[in-house]
Amino acid sequence: MKIITFSAIKGGVGKTTLTFNYGEWLASHNNNVLFVDLDHQSNLTQTYGIYDSAETVGNIFLGRGKVKIHEIKDNISLIAGDMHLDDIERDLENKTNKNMLLYMWLSDNYDRLNLERFDYIILDSHPDFSTATKNAVIISNAILSPITPSEHGYNAKFNLEERINELQKEAIDYSSRQSYVTAKLFFIANMIKHNTKSSHELLEALKDDPNVLATVPEKELFNRSTLDKTSLSTMALDHKTYINQREFFDNIDKTFQEITNRL
Ligand SMILES: Nc1ncnc2c1ncn2[C@@H]1O[C@H](COP(=O)(O)OP(=O)(O)O)[C@@H](O)[C@H]1O
Ligand SMILES: [Mg+2]
Repeated sequence: MKIITFSAIKGGVGKTTLTFNYGEWLASHNNNVLFVDLDHQSNLTQTYGIYDSAETVGNIFLGRGKVKIHEIKDNISLIAGDMHLDDIERDLENKTNKNMLLYMWLSDNYDRLNLERFDYIILDSHPDFSTATKNAVIISNAILSPITPSEHGYNAKFNLEERINELQKEAIDYSSRQSYVTAKLFFIANMIKHNTKSSHELLEALKDDPNVLATVPEKELFNRSTLDKTSLSTMALDHKTYINQREFFDNIDKTFQEITNRL
């Protein structure tokens, strides 16, 4: 099993869009995927038409109550986001184990909920480095962080690197002195345009960085995918849609494959 968190300090950079489309792509390639929505705005959860406020991810952080794994369709399951997760996190402020709650929940429930059946657990997060995000980083094998061509897009990269380094020092097992944070941090250049100065500048700044896994173009179909709640993988099954945008679909397929090979 691989655990992957989409994280970025900035909002609107494509975390949810990439979580959704990459997870669906993995599912379409025979992987059993569990999504966990750690954003209290719950955009990913809403993409799957779930508006329940019970048995959500919030219970993992409260340490009580059931947590429901929604079986959405073949190869896709989801633990729903909780609109009060930000309040729940605030109440945890003084708890010493507050960053380890997801880790403990996973080990406590691994057998009972048969979590081993999942090939990937993919977590979407709120744009910050809050308690929920730290919990996600601690259980992850990899962090994928989208960066976009904008004034502060590139700086956000250093900010996240720094935060993860800090957490790595803080979250240690006191007897072995080993850090719980073992995740590798990777970046995805997202919403790249052919013809703008800011896109060129970002690509230039990233070109020799071995941790940049992929470049994803700005394309209306990404927007459509979340609006229509239909992933690119599902869209591409429609012959006419695929033929019309063949080059785009083939490129995205290649990009997602490359990301998977590097993780
Ligand atoms: N590659 C892309 N091309 C075009 N639109 C995109 C792309 N990636 C994301 N978007 C759009 O940008 C907006 C913000 O994306 P979202 O995934 O919600 O960001 P975040 O989760 O980081 O806040 C959404 O409207 C989404 O459809
Ligand atoms: Mg989001």
